[in-house]
Amino acid sequence: MTMGEERAFTGGMLAKSIFNFVCNYFLLLAIALFMVFLKQGGDYADYLAKNLPVLFFTAGCLFLLLWIIYLYYFFEKKFFLAEMKNIWLIFLILDVCILLAFFMGNYVDVYARPVALLALLALFLIGYRDAIFLNIVFAVTMFILDVFVEYDVYVATGVTNGMFPSFMLTFIAGTFAVFIGKSAKTRNQILGTGAIIALPTLAIIFLLKISDYANFADMDTLLSLLFGFGGSLFSAVFLLAFLPIFENMFSVLTVFRLRELTAPESKLLKRLISEARGTFNHSMTVAQLAESCASALGENVELARAAAYYHDVGKLRQPDFFTENQTDHNLHDELTPELSADIIRSHTKDGYHLITAYHLPKFFAEVATEHHGTLPIKYFYAKALRMSDGEINVENYSYQGPKPKSKIAAIIMIADACEAATRSLTDRSVENVERAVHAIIQERMDLNQFSECQITMNDLTVIKQTLISALTGLYHHRIKYPDLRFSRSGVEDKGGKVND
Ligand SMILES: [Fe+2]
Ligand SMILES: [Fe+2]
Repeated sequence: MTMGEERAFTGGMLAKSIFNFVCNYFLLLAIALFMVFLKQGGDYADYLAKNLPVLFFTAGCLFLLLWIIYLYYFFEKKFFLAEMKNIWLIFLILDVCILLAFFMGNYVDVYARPVALLALLALFLIGYRDAIFLNIVFAVTMFILDVFVEYDVYVATGVTNGMFPSFMLTFIAGTFAVFIGKSAKTRNQILGTGAIIALPTLAIIFLLKISDYANFADMDTLLSLLFGFGGSLFSAVFLLAFLPIFENMFSVLTVFRLRELTAPESKLLKRLISEARGTFNHSMTVAQLAESCASALGENVELARAAAYYHDVGKLRQPDFFTENQTDHNLHDELTPELSADIIRSHTKDGYHLITAYHLPKFFAEVATEHHGTLPIKYFYAKALRMSDGEINVENYSYQGPKPKSKIAAIIMIADACEAATRSLTDRSVENVERAVHAIIQERMDLNQFSECQITMNDLTVIKQTLISALTGLYHHRIKYPDLRFSRSGVEDKGGKVND
Protein backbone atom coordinates (compact mmCIF):
# COMPACT_ATOMS: atom_id res chain seq x y z
CA MET A 1 0.00 0.00 0.00
CA THR A 2 1.32 3.45 -0.83
CA MET A 3 0.65 6.72 0.95
CA GLY A 4 -1.81 7.76 -1.74
CA GLU A 5 -4.20 4.91 -1.16
CA GLU A 6 -4.99 6.18 2.29
CA ARG A 7 -6.45 9.40 0.87
CA ALA A 8 -10.08 9.47 -0.09
CA PHE A 9 -11.02 9.51 -3.76
CA THR A 10 -13.32 12.51 -3.58
CA GLY A 11 -16.44 13.29 -5.63
CA GLY A 12 -14.52 16.19 -7.17
CA MET A 13 -11.80 13.85 -8.40
CA LEU A 14 -14.44 11.50 -9.81
CA ALA A 15 -16.26 14.30 -11.66
CA LYS A 16 -13.02 15.78 -12.99
CA SER A 17 -11.71 12.44 -14.23
CA ILE A 18 -15.00 11.61 -15.96
CA PHE A 19 -15.06 15.07 -17.56
CA ASN A 20 -11.54 14.58 -18.91
CA PHE A 21 -12.46 11.17 -20.29
CA VAL A 22 -15.50 12.63 -22.05
CA CYS A 23 -13.35 15.43 -23.55
CA ASN A 24 -10.93 12.84 -24.85
CA TYR A 25 -13.74 10.73 -26.22
CA PHE A 26 -14.86 13.62 -28.43
CA LEU A 27 -11.27 14.28 -29.43
CA LEU A 28 -10.96 10.64 -30.52
CA LEU A 29 -14.20 10.90 -32.51
CA ALA A 30 -12.85 14.02 -34.23
CA ILE A 31 -9.69 12.09 -35.12
CA ALA A 32 -11.81 9.25 -36.56
CA LEU A 33 -13.75 11.73 -38.72
CA PHE A 34 -10.52 13.39 -39.82
CA MET A 35 -9.22 10.01 -40.98
CA VAL A 36 -12.44 9.41 -42.97
CA PHE A 37 -11.97 12.85 -44.49
CA LEU A 38 -8.41 12.03 -45.59
CA LYS A 39 -9.37 8.61 -46.88
CA GLN A 40 -12.58 9.50 -48.69
CA GLY A 41 -11.53 12.93 -49.96
CA GLY A 42 -14.32 14.81 -51.72
CA ASP A 43 -16.85 12.03 -51.09
CA TYR A 44 -16.46 12.56 -47.40
CA ALA A 45 -19.99 13.89 -46.70
CA ASP A 46 -21.56 11.31 -49.00
CA TYR A 47 -19.68 8.51 -47.30
CA LEU A 48 -20.85 9.60 -43.86
CA ALA A 49 -24.47 10.09 -44.98
CA LYS A 50 -24.49 6.67 -46.61
CA ASN A 51 -22.92 4.97 -43.60
CA LEU A 52 -24.66 6.84 -40.79
CA PRO A 53 -25.49 3.64 -38.83
CA VAL A 54 -21.80 2.68 -39.00
CA LEU A 55 -20.91 6.08 -37.59
CA PHE A 56 -23.21 5.44 -34.62
CA PHE A 57 -21.85 1.93 -34.23
CA THR A 58 -18.27 3.25 -34.19
CA ALA A 59 -19.09 6.08 -31.81
CA GLY A 60 -20.81 3.61 -29.45
CA CYS A 61 -17.95 1.10 -29.56
CA LEU A 62 -15.33 3.77 -28.91
CA PHE A 63 -17.40 5.03 -25.99
CA LEU A 64 -17.49 1.53 -24.48
CA LEU A 65 -13.77 0.99 -25.04
CA LEU A 66 -12.89 4.24 -23.28
CA TRP A 67 -15.07 3.27 -20.33
CA ILE A 68 -13.23 -0.01 -20.12
CA ILE A 69 -10.03 2.02 -19.71
CA TYR A 70 -11.75 4.17 -17.07
CA LEU A 71 -13.00 1.13 -15.16
CA TYR A 72 -9.59 -0.54 -15.32
CA TYR A 73 -8.00 2.43 -13.57
CA PHE A 74 -10.94 2.93 -11.24
CA PHE A 75 -10.63 -0.60 -9.88
CA GLU A 76 -6.91 -1.16 -10.32
CA LYS A 77 -5.31 2.17 -9.31
CA LYS A 78 -7.88 4.79 -8.58
CA PHE A 79 -5.46 7.58 -7.72
CA PHE A 80 -3.98 7.47 -11.16
CA LEU A 81 -7.25 9.07 -12.28
CA ALA A 82 -6.97 11.84 -9.70
CA GLU A 83 -4.15 13.42 -11.72
CA MET A 84 -5.53 14.95 -14.90
CA LYS A 85 -2.17 14.84 -16.61
CA ASN A 86 -2.21 11.03 -16.35
CA ILE A 87 -5.51 10.87 -18.27
CA TRP A 88 -4.17 13.19 -20.95
CA LEU A 89 -0.99 11.16 -21.16
CA ILE A 90 -2.95 7.95 -21.91
CA PHE A 91 -5.05 9.65 -24.57
CA LEU A 92 -2.23 11.56 -26.18
CA ILE A 93 -0.33 8.26 -26.58
CA LEU A 94 -3.48 6.67 -28.00
CA ASP A 95 -4.18 9.55 -30.41
CA VAL A 96 -0.60 9.76 -31.65
CA CYS A 97 -0.43 5.99 -32.24
CA ILE A 98 -3.78 5.91 -34.06
CA LEU A 99 -2.74 8.76 -36.37
CA LEU A 100 0.70 7.29 -37.05
CA ALA A 101 -0.81 3.88 -37.79
CA PHE A 102 -3.27 5.55 -40.16
CA PHE A 103 -0.61 7.53 -42.04
CA MET A 104 1.85 4.68 -42.29
CA GLY A 105 -0.87 2.20 -43.27
CA ASN A 106 -2.37 4.55 -45.81
CA TYR A 107 0.67 6.10 -47.40
CA VAL A 108 3.28 3.34 -46.99
CA ASP A 109 1.84 -0.11 -46.39
CA VAL A 110 -0.55 -1.71 -43.94
CA TYR A 111 2.32 -3.87 -42.62
CA ALA A 112 4.58 -0.85 -42.11
CA ARG A 113 2.42 0.42 -39.25
CA PRO A 114 4.37 0.85 -36.00
CA VAL A 115 1.99 -1.56 -34.29
CA ALA A 116 4.02 -1.97 -31.09
CA LEU A 117 4.54 1.77 -30.52
CA LEU A 118 1.62 2.22 -28.14
CA ALA A 119 2.67 -0.77 -26.05
CA LEU A 120 6.24 0.54 -25.80
CA LEU A 121 5.27 4.15 -25.02
CA ALA A 122 2.83 2.96 -22.34
CA LEU A 123 5.48 0.61 -20.93
CA PHE A 124 8.07 3.34 -20.42
CA LEU A 125 5.76 6.22 -19.56
CA ILE A 126 3.01 4.56 -17.52
CA GLY A 127 3.78 1.01 -16.43
CA TYR A 128 4.11 -2.64 -17.29
CA ARG A 129 0.58 -3.87 -16.54
CA ASP A 130 -0.93 -0.71 -18.01
CA ALA A 131 0.97 -1.31 -21.24
CA ILE A 132 -0.45 -4.83 -21.66
CA PHE A 133 -3.99 -3.64 -20.96
CA LEU A 134 -3.84 -0.46 -23.06
CA ASN A 135 -2.41 -2.39 -25.99
CA ILE A 136 -5.44 -4.72 -26.00
CA VAL A 137 -7.77 -1.71 -26.06
CA PHE A 138 -5.63 -0.13 -28.78
CA ALA A 139 -5.79 -3.27 -30.95
CA VAL A 140 -9.60 -3.36 -30.73
CA THR A 141 -9.83 0.41 -31.29
CA MET A 142 -7.67 0.17 -34.40
CA PHE A 143 -9.82 -2.63 -35.77
CA ILE A 144 -13.03 -0.62 -35.26
CA LEU A 145 -11.49 2.49 -36.81
CA ASP A 146 -10.14 0.51 -39.77
CA VAL A 147 -13.62 -0.81 -40.49
CA PHE A 148 -15.17 2.64 -40.02
CA VAL A 149 -12.74 4.53 -42.25
CA GLU A 150 -13.22 2.14 -45.18
CA TYR A 151 -16.57 0.53 -44.53
CA ASP A 152 -17.33 0.05 -48.24
CA VAL A 153 -14.05 -1.86 -48.72
CA TYR A 154 -14.84 -3.90 -45.64
CA VAL A 155 -18.29 -4.82 -47.01
CA ALA A 156 -16.79 -5.73 -50.39
CA THR A 157 -13.80 -7.77 -49.16
CA GLY A 158 -14.56 -8.71 -45.58
CA VAL A 159 -12.00 -8.50 -42.82
CA THR A 160 -9.14 -9.84 -44.89
CA ASN A 161 -8.29 -6.48 -46.41
CA GLY A 162 -5.54 -5.52 -43.99
CA MET A 163 -7.96 -4.98 -41.11
CA PHE A 164 -7.71 -8.38 -39.51
CA PRO A 165 -3.91 -8.64 -39.96
CA SER A 166 -3.41 -5.25 -38.39
CA PHE A 167 -5.57 -6.22 -35.41
CA MET A 168 -3.60 -9.44 -34.93
CA LEU A 169 -0.26 -7.68 -35.37
CA THR A 170 -1.10 -4.92 -32.91
CA PHE A 171 -2.19 -7.37 -30.25
CA ILE A 172 0.60 -9.94 -30.66
CA ALA A 173 3.54 -7.65 -31.49
CA GLY A 174 2.48 -5.09 -28.87
CA THR A 175 2.19 -7.64 -26.06
CA PHE A 176 5.47 -9.22 -27.13
CA ALA A 177 7.09 -5.77 -27.12
CA VAL A 178 6.05 -5.19 -23.51
CA PHE A 179 7.70 -8.43 -22.37
CA ILE A 180 10.87 -7.84 -24.36
CA GLY A 181 11.14 -4.07 -23.88
CA LYS A 182 10.72 -4.30 -20.10
CA SER A 183 14.43 -4.73 -19.49
CA ALA A 184 15.65 -2.26 -22.16
CA LYS A 185 17.68 0.53 -20.60
CA THR A 186 19.63 2.01 -23.51
CA ARG A 187 18.84 3.25 -27.02
CA ASN A 188 20.55 0.26 -28.56
CA GLN A 189 18.49 -2.11 -26.46
CA ILE A 190 15.35 -0.32 -27.69
CA LEU A 191 16.42 -0.83 -31.31
CA GLY A 192 17.18 -4.45 -30.44
CA THR A 193 13.65 -4.76 -29.05
CA GLY A 194 12.36 -3.47 -32.40
CA ALA A 195 14.31 -6.18 -34.21
CA ILE A 196 13.02 -8.90 -31.88
CA ILE A 197 9.40 -7.75 -32.29
CA ALA A 198 9.92 -8.46 -35.99
CA LEU A 199 9.87 -12.20 -35.21
CA PRO A 200 6.17 -12.57 -34.28
CA THR A 201 5.31 -9.89 -36.86
CA LEU A 202 6.93 -11.82 -39.69
CA ALA A 203 5.40 -15.08 -38.45
CA ILE A 204 1.89 -13.57 -38.55
CA ILE A 205 2.41 -12.08 -42.02
CA PHE A 206 3.79 -15.42 -43.22
CA LEU A 207 0.74 -17.29 -41.84
CA LEU A 208 -1.66 -14.83 -43.43
CA LYS A 209 0.07 -15.12 -46.77
CA ILE A 210 0.05 -18.94 -46.61
CA SER A 211 -3.72 -18.82 -46.21
CA ASP A 212 -3.82 -17.13 -49.63
CA TYR A 213 -1.69 -19.87 -51.25
CA ALA A 214 -2.68 -19.06 -54.82
CA ASN A 215 -0.68 -15.83 -54.55
CA PHE A 216 1.73 -16.93 -51.87
CA ALA A 217 4.91 -17.10 -53.88
CA ASP A 218 4.69 -13.67 -55.51
CA MET A 219 6.60 -10.44 -54.90
CA ASP A 220 3.74 -9.13 -52.81
CA THR A 221 4.55 -11.61 -50.03
CA LEU A 222 8.19 -10.58 -49.97
CA LEU A 223 7.24 -6.89 -49.89
CA SER A 224 4.79 -7.47 -47.04
CA LEU A 225 7.49 -9.26 -45.06
CA LEU A 226 9.90 -6.39 -45.68
CA PHE A 227 7.31 -3.83 -44.62
CA GLY A 228 6.56 -5.96 -41.56
CA PHE A 229 10.22 -5.84 -40.57
CA GLY A 230 10.26 -2.09 -41.24
CA GLY A 231 7.12 -1.60 -39.12
CA SER A 232 8.76 -3.35 -36.16
CA LEU A 233 11.79 -1.10 -36.42
CA PHE A 234 9.54 1.97 -36.86
CA SER A 235 7.94 1.13 -33.50
CA ALA A 236 11.37 1.38 -31.86
CA VAL A 237 12.49 4.45 -33.83
CA PHE A 238 9.25 6.36 -33.17
CA LEU A 239 9.56 5.41 -29.51
CA LEU A 240 13.00 7.01 -29.33
CA ALA A 241 11.66 10.10 -31.11
CA PHE A 242 8.54 10.53 -28.96
CA LEU A 243 9.83 9.56 -25.52
CA PRO A 244 11.77 12.79 -24.84
CA ILE A 245 8.75 14.86 -25.91
CA PHE A 246 6.37 12.99 -23.59
CA GLU A 247 8.95 12.96 -20.78
CA ASN A 248 9.16 16.74 -20.89
CA MET A 249 5.48 17.43 -21.46
CA PHE A 250 4.31 15.25 -18.58
CA SER A 251 7.49 15.33 -16.46
CA VAL A 252 7.71 11.54 -16.44
CA LEU A 253 10.91 10.03 -15.12
CA THR A 254 11.66 7.19 -17.50
CA VAL A 255 14.66 4.95 -17.07
CA PHE A 256 16.36 6.85 -19.93
CA ARG A 257 15.83 10.26 -18.33
CA LEU A 258 17.11 8.97 -15.00
CA ARG A 259 20.19 7.57 -16.69
CA GLU A 260 20.86 10.94 -18.35
CA LEU A 261 20.54 12.68 -15.00
CA THR A 262 23.15 10.42 -13.41
CA ALA A 263 25.67 10.84 -16.23
CA PRO A 264 28.74 12.85 -15.18
CA GLU A 265 27.82 15.43 -17.88
CA SER A 266 24.75 16.40 -15.88
CA LYS A 267 25.32 20.05 -14.89
CA LEU A 268 24.87 19.81 -11.14
CA LEU A 269 26.92 16.61 -10.89
CA LYS A 270 29.68 18.31 -12.85
CA ARG A 271 29.71 21.04 -10.20
CA LEU A 272 29.77 18.43 -7.46
CA ILE A 273 32.77 16.73 -9.07
CA SER A 274 34.79 19.94 -9.35
CA GLU A 275 33.68 21.80 -6.20
CA ALA A 276 32.95 19.02 -3.69
CA ARG A 277 34.76 15.89 -4.81
CA GLY A 278 34.38 14.21 -1.40
CA THR A 279 30.61 14.71 -1.42
CA PHE A 280 30.44 13.36 -4.97
CA ASN A 281 32.31 10.19 -3.98
CA HIS A 282 30.11 9.78 -0.92
CA SER A 283 26.96 10.24 -3.06
CA MET A 284 28.15 7.60 -5.53
CA THR A 285 28.58 5.08 -2.74
CA VAL A 286 25.20 5.97 -1.21
CA ALA A 287 23.67 5.53 -4.69
CA GLN A 288 25.18 2.07 -4.97
CA LEU A 289 23.82 1.12 -1.55
CA ALA A 290 20.38 2.66 -2.20
CA GLU A 291 20.21 0.81 -5.51
CA SER A 292 20.80 -2.56 -3.79
CA CYS A 293 18.18 -1.81 -1.11
CA ALA A 294 15.61 -0.62 -3.67
CA SER A 295 16.17 -3.75 -5.71
CA ALA A 296 15.74 -5.96 -2.62
CA LEU A 297 12.45 -4.20 -1.78
CA GLY A 298 11.13 -4.20 -5.34
CA GLU A 299 11.23 -0.37 -5.49
CA ASN A 300 12.26 1.68 -8.54
CA VAL A 301 16.01 0.99 -8.69
CA GLU A 302 16.89 3.72 -11.20
CA LEU A 303 14.93 6.33 -9.24
CA ALA A 304 16.63 5.41 -5.96
CA ARG A 305 20.04 5.55 -7.60
CA ALA A 306 19.43 8.92 -9.25
CA ALA A 307 17.89 10.52 -6.14
CA ALA A 308 20.90 9.38 -4.09
CA TYR A 309 23.28 11.08 -6.54
CA TYR A 310 21.62 14.40 -5.71
CA HIS A 311 20.82 13.98 -2.00
CA ASP A 312 23.71 16.15 -0.76
CA VAL A 313 24.01 18.75 -3.55
CA GLY A 314 23.07 21.39 -0.96
CA LYS A 315 26.63 21.02 0.36
CA LEU A 316 27.80 22.90 -2.75
CA ARG A 317 27.02 26.18 -1.01
CA GLN A 318 29.77 25.68 1.57
CA PRO A 319 31.53 22.44 0.65
CA ASP A 320 34.54 22.93 2.92
CA PHE A 321 32.41 22.73 6.05
CA PHE A 322 31.66 19.03 5.44
CA THR A 323 34.19 16.42 6.60
CA GLU A 324 34.33 14.47 3.34
CA ASN A 325 35.69 17.59 1.55
CA GLN A 326 38.13 18.61 4.27
CA THR A 327 41.79 17.75 4.16
CA ASP A 328 43.58 18.69 7.36
CA HIS A 329 41.97 21.97 8.38
CA ASN A 330 38.57 21.85 10.10
CA LEU A 331 36.75 25.17 9.61
CA HIS A 332 34.37 24.34 12.44
CA ASP A 333 37.18 24.77 14.97
CA GLU A 334 36.73 28.53 14.60
CA LEU A 335 32.93 28.49 14.95
CA THR A 336 30.47 28.16 17.81
CA PRO A 337 28.64 24.79 17.80
CA GLU A 338 25.38 26.61 17.14
CA LEU A 339 26.73 28.25 13.99
CA SER A 340 28.29 24.97 12.86
CA ALA A 341 25.00 23.14 13.32
CA ASP A 342 23.27 25.89 11.35
CA ILE A 343 25.65 25.47 8.40
CA ILE A 344 25.36 21.67 8.44
CA ARG A 345 21.57 21.80 8.79
CA SER A 346 21.10 24.17 5.88
CA HIS A 347 22.43 21.68 3.30
CA THR A 348 19.02 19.97 3.11
CA LYS A 349 17.12 23.16 2.25
CA ASP A 350 19.94 24.42 0.02
CA GLY A 351 19.74 21.12 -1.84
CA TYR A 352 16.03 21.61 -2.36
CA HIS A 353 16.53 25.10 -3.82
CA LEU A 354 19.47 24.06 -6.00
CA ILE A 355 17.62 21.06 -7.45
CA THR A 356 14.58 23.22 -8.15
CA ALA A 357 16.72 25.97 -9.71
CA TYR A 358 18.29 23.39 -12.06
CA HIS A 359 14.81 22.15 -13.06
CA LEU A 360 15.54 18.66 -11.84
CA PRO A 361 12.76 16.28 -10.76
CA LYS A 362 10.75 17.31 -7.71
CA PHE A 363 11.34 13.88 -6.19
CA PHE A 364 15.10 14.58 -5.97
CA ALA A 365 14.37 17.86 -4.17
CA GLU A 366 12.09 16.03 -1.72
CA VAL A 367 14.75 13.42 -0.97
CA ALA A 368 17.30 16.22 -0.41
CA THR A 369 15.11 17.86 2.28
CA GLU A 370 13.98 14.60 3.86
CA HIS A 371 17.20 12.58 4.05
CA HIS A 372 18.11 13.71 7.58
CA GLY A 373 14.51 13.90 8.81
CA THR A 374 14.43 15.67 12.19
CA LEU A 375 17.56 13.97 13.51
CA PRO A 376 19.91 15.80 15.89
CA ILE A 377 23.35 16.80 14.61
CA LYS A 378 25.02 14.81 17.35
CA TYR A 379 28.59 16.05 16.98
CA PHE A 380 27.76 19.71 17.51
CA TYR A 381 25.06 19.01 20.10
CA ALA A 382 27.69 17.12 22.13
CA LYS A 383 30.18 19.98 21.60
CA ALA A 384 27.58 22.49 22.81
CA LEU A 385 26.86 20.33 25.88
CA ARG A 386 30.55 20.20 26.69
CA MET A 387 30.92 23.95 26.35
CA SER A 388 27.93 24.93 28.47
CA ASP A 389 26.85 24.06 31.96
CA GLY A 390 23.14 24.72 31.49
CA GLU A 391 20.44 22.99 29.48
CA ILE A 392 20.79 22.90 25.70
CA ASN A 393 17.73 22.69 23.52
CA VAL A 394 18.34 19.73 21.20
CA GLU A 395 15.99 21.23 18.60
CA ASN A 396 18.50 24.00 17.96
CA TYR A 397 20.89 21.24 16.95
CA SER A 398 18.50 19.19 14.83
CA TYR A 399 17.52 19.07 11.17
CA GLN A 400 14.18 20.68 10.45
CA GLY A 401 12.71 17.83 8.43
CA PRO A 402 10.36 16.85 6.95
CA LYS A 403 10.78 13.15 7.70
CA PRO A 404 11.07 10.75 4.73
CA LYS A 405 7.77 10.52 2.88
CA SER A 406 8.64 7.69 0.53
CA LYS A 407 10.34 4.32 0.92
CA ILE A 408 13.15 5.52 -1.34
CA ALA A 409 13.77 8.58 0.85
CA ALA A 410 13.90 6.29 3.91
CA ILE A 411 16.34 3.95 2.13
CA ILE A 412 18.59 6.92 1.26
CA MET A 413 18.40 8.20 4.84
CA ILE A 414 19.66 4.87 6.18
CA ALA A 415 22.20 4.20 3.40
CA ASP A 416 23.62 7.73 3.82
CA ALA A 417 24.24 7.30 7.54
CA CYS A 418 25.59 3.77 7.13
CA GLU A 419 28.07 4.86 4.46
CA ALA A 420 29.41 7.67 6.65
CA ALA A 421 29.56 5.48 9.75
CA THR A 422 31.33 2.62 7.99
CA ARG A 423 33.81 4.97 6.35
CA SER A 424 34.90 6.22 9.77
CA LEU A 425 35.34 2.70 11.21
CA THR A 426 38.95 1.67 11.59
CA ASP A 427 38.08 -2.01 11.75
CA ARG A 428 35.47 -2.84 9.12
CA SER A 429 34.89 -6.42 10.19
CA VAL A 430 31.48 -7.95 9.52
CA GLU A 431 30.61 -7.70 13.23
CA ASN A 432 31.50 -3.99 13.39
CA VAL A 433 29.60 -3.13 10.21
CA GLU A 434 26.63 -5.15 11.46
CA ARG A 435 26.67 -3.31 14.78
CA ALA A 436 26.88 0.11 13.06
CA VAL A 437 24.02 -0.61 10.62
CA HIS A 438 21.84 -2.02 13.39
CA ALA A 439 22.47 1.02 15.62
CA ILE A 440 21.67 3.47 12.80
CA ILE A 441 18.33 1.83 11.96
CA GLN A 442 17.41 1.42 15.62
CA GLU A 443 18.20 5.06 16.41
CA ARG A 444 16.04 6.27 13.52
CA MET A 445 13.18 4.05 14.68
CA ASP A 446 13.53 5.32 18.27
CA LEU A 447 13.48 8.90 17.01
CA ASN A 448 10.34 8.14 15.01
CA GLN A 449 11.86 9.04 11.63
CA PHE A 450 9.75 6.59 9.61
CA SER A 451 6.34 7.74 10.86
CA GLU A 452 5.47 9.49 7.59
CA CYS A 453 6.38 6.77 5.10
CA GLN A 454 5.00 3.32 4.44
CA ILE A 455 8.01 1.32 5.46
CA THR A 456 7.46 -1.95 7.34
CA MET A 457 9.57 -3.80 9.90
CA ASN A 458 10.17 -6.43 7.27
CA ASP A 459 11.45 -3.75 4.84
CA LEU A 460 13.85 -2.48 7.51
CA THR A 461 15.17 -6.00 8.11
CA VAL A 462 15.74 -6.45 4.36
CA ILE A 463 17.49 -3.05 4.18
CA LYS A 464 19.70 -3.99 7.14
CA GLN A 465 20.77 -7.30 5.62
CA THR A 466 21.34 -5.74 2.20
CA LEU A 467 23.47 -2.93 3.65
CA ILE A 468 25.57 -5.27 5.77
CA SER A 469 26.41 -7.49 2.83
CA ALA A 470 26.95 -4.51 0.48
CA LEU A 471 29.14 -2.58 2.92
CA THR A 472 31.30 -5.55 3.87
CA GLY A 473 31.75 -6.24 0.15
CA LEU A 474 32.46 -2.59 -0.60
CA TYR A 475 35.11 -2.12 2.05
CA HIS A 476 36.57 -5.55 1.50
CA HIS A 477 38.59 -7.24 4.21
CA ARG A 478 41.91 -5.60 4.63
CA ILE A 479 44.58 -8.24 4.60
CA LYS A 480 47.35 -7.97 7.12
CA TYR A 481 50.77 -8.48 5.71
CA PRO A 482 54.08 -8.39 7.51
CA ASP A 483 55.67 -4.96 7.43
CA LEU A 484 59.21 -5.87 6.44
CA ARG A 485 61.76 -3.12 6.10
CA PHE A 486 64.64 -3.79 3.78
CA SER A 487 67.78 -1.86 4.45
CA ARG A 488 71.54 -2.17 3.98
CA SER A 489 71.81 -3.74 7.42
CA GLY A 490 69.26 -6.47 6.64
CA VAL A 491 65.55 -7.09 7.02
CA GLU A 492 63.57 -5.81 9.98
CA ASP A 493 60.02 -6.98 10.87
CA LYS A 494 57.95 -4.02 12.11
CA GLY A 495 54.85 -6.17 12.76
CA GLY A 496 51.54 -6.35 10.89
CA LYS A 497 50.31 -3.41 8.83
CA VAL A 498 46.91 -2.94 7.31
CA ASN A 499 46.94 -3.11 3.56
CA ASP A 500 44.76 -0.44 1.93
FE1 LIG B 1 23.18 14.98 3.92
FE1 LIG C 1 24.90 12.23 2.54
